[in-house]
Amino acid sequence: MKGAKITAIGAYVPARRLTNSDLEQMVDTNEEWIVQRTGIRERRISREDEYTSDLCTAAVQDLMKRYGKSVQDVDMILVATSTPDFSFPSVASILQNRLGIPVTAGAVDLSAACAGFVYALHTAHAYVASGLHRKVLVLGADTLSKITDYTDRSTCILFGDGAGAVLLESGGLVDGFAGFHLGSDGSGAHHVYHPGLSHVVNEVDLIDTGKLVQNGREVFRWAVRTVPQGVQQVLDSAGATLEQVDWFIPHSANLRMIEPICERMNYPLEQALYSLEYFGNTSAASIPLALDLGIRAGKVLNGQQVLLYGFGAGLAHAGQLLRLTLDTEVSPPAPL
Ligand code: COA
Repeated sequence: MKGAKITAIGAYVPARRLTNSDLEQMVDTNEEWIVQRTGIRERRISREDEYTSDLCTAAVQDLMKRYGKSVQDVDMILVATSTPDFSFPSVASILQNRLGIPVTAGAVDLSAACAGFVYALHTAHAYVASGLHRKVLVLGADTLSKITDYTDRSTCILFGDGAGAVLLESGGLVDGFAGFHLGSDGSGAHHVYHPGLSHVVNEVDLIDTGKLVQNGREVFRWAVRTVPQGVQQVLDSAGATLEQVDWFIPHSANLRMIEPICERMNYPLEQALYSLEYFGNTSAASIPLALDLGIRAGKVLNGQQVLLYGFGAGLAHAGQLLRLTLDTEVSPPAPL
């Protein structure tokens, strides 16, 4: 096994803000309910002509500028997304061309909804650790606003758009990656979905409005039960303890889910990082955005141990313990 490390990170969110008071004008809701039940104050919404590939491009540009990195020599591009510009071609292929990455690099999208970024990171680590690839660009990006029903108050208050990018490089003897845990329970596939070619899953007739549909309570219950158990599996596979985890970054679905998850784990909520307060639930982007916010705020430091845990539609989940091994930034990040 070769070492693999994350050497650079970048992020992007669209300029347009959708606040809770904006939502009060659109559906029967109010600021107090949204903040109390979700912890979300604002989300960023992409322009009509702005797609996931555009957000990805901007996130990689941020990464290159901050870390003085080139992506010309990456040999694989992995994009975790549930809202690609097209069913095909992939966002990864569009990105390869737009960033001028040589045509010899592999390019593929991965679909695991809100768990997608951690699945992509896990895949990239396997590629680099096995020696199959040297330098992998990994993105988590979504434009959920494009599939959100803005007449449904139980979903439209949650979602926003964003992208996060990391560069995973062969680290010689240094391996930033410790334990991981993956899982999926398709018996809950009908609890959160975006209709596609089929309209039935688990013998349940799906609602097809062309928009995202969810049973919020079921997803809530499943996540609060599943994530603490998954975190323990990550720790067991790494031979680590929770006390060694400097920062816990669960998927930013809802602060009211993160609180009981931390409580069940007996982990201090102050050491949980999330991106939902000003960006909402950005699906595959939520974890890299939260990591990046922590780095920008000077909280997350090189050498610290971070435990990422993605969960969502599938119902799929994925956790990864890693030690931060970023290169030094050459220029400060632009404000998000
Ligand atoms: N404003 C005001 N009231 C609202 C509302 C809103 N935006 N959305 C729902 N309500 C109402 C409901 O209609 C219900 O009213 P009733 O009691 O008269 O029927 C009441 O609030 C409680 O609804 P409930 O669904 O129990 O609320 P909740 O506390 O579970 O919060 C979610 C709803 C969706 C915020 C929450 O379940 C959630 O975040 N779930 C996880 C979703 C998720 O993460 N999905 C993505 C996959 S990762």
